[in-house]
Amino acid sequence: MVNIQKAAVIGCGFVGSTIAYTLMQKGTFSELVLLDAVQAKAEGEAMDISHGLPFAHAMDIYAGSYEDIADAAVVIITAGANQKPGETRLDLVQKNSRIMRSVIGEIKRVGCEGILLIVSNPVDILTQVALAESGFPGERVIGSGTVLDTARLKYLISEKLEVDSRNVHAFIAGEHGDSELAVWSCANIYGIGLKEFARMKGYADFEKEMDGIYHAVRDSAYDIIERKGATYYGIGMSAAKIAESIVRDSHTVMPVSVSLSGEYGLSGLCLSIPAIVGRGGAEQVLEIALSEEELEKLKASADELREVLGQIRQ
Ligand code: 2OP
Repeated sequence: MVNIQKAAVIGCGFVGSTIAYTLMQKGTFSELVLLDAVQAKAEGEAMDISHGLPFAHAMDIYAGSYEDIADAAVVIITAGANQKPGETRLDLVQKNSRIMRSVIGEIKRVGCEGILLIVSNPVDILTQVALAESGFPGERVIGSGTVLDTARLKYLISEKLEVDSRNVHAFIAGEHGDSELAVWSCANIYGIGLKEFARMKGYADFEKEMDGIYHAVRDSAYDIIERKGATYYGIGMSAAKIAESIVRDSHTVMPVSVSLSGEYGLSGLCLSIPAIVGRGGAEQVLEIALSEEELEKLKASADELREVLGQIRQ
């Protein structure tokens, strides 16, 4: 039986512990189990985060074992090596797919019936690995995908146009990585078309700015890693938001990495496309009318991912 108030975080590095800290601050769950290959690391993080509880919401955070996660409603997996300066997310693939398979083996062993939220990189590939290894239905295996890239896109547009980032509606689709695309055809500010809004703000030609914004989004992780060695706050907020949409059954539309079965003419792989996220996981993948150019870029992104999947399947 799933306990909807309970989540687990597997992997307590920068990303896993930041997700745990964010979930604690938001009071999303009443029980949070932390697991790490190094048990002392999970214990230390659980202790440190628990010490903030008097300033937040009552809940139970502890370092546990796989047996403790059997009834968790959401299992967030961040285990794996992370990107080093100069490394792409895809460079991590062999190492992290081995780790993912062993984590999923344990999750199956304890009979967990929750939703799997994959955050480890390369996230689209590892979501596919988790899906295949678990045998779970597609909606129960979600990757954090381009939820973070989408937040970066909204933030950068909002900075440029001097408007609240929460009024910006735009998203990044495809691979969480170098082949991702900005779906400009759907971008708007509070329902006002992006270019029209930009004109109101004095931009006669916003195209050039859009190109710059896209590149800044795509290269964000590299730019941050070069400066501070890792990224964790943005992904912490992104993963917590996805977990919250599941537990609150909020039916939030977000570009999570999901298994495609024919949508956009694609199948047999996971990549990011807006989906409705609720208690059932990625409950519905939305097939949006993309422009011809966007559809082509989405297919090119899928081709990149397929090539990597082919390598790890050998
Ligand atoms: C990020 O985009 C590295 O995937 C991580 O911040």
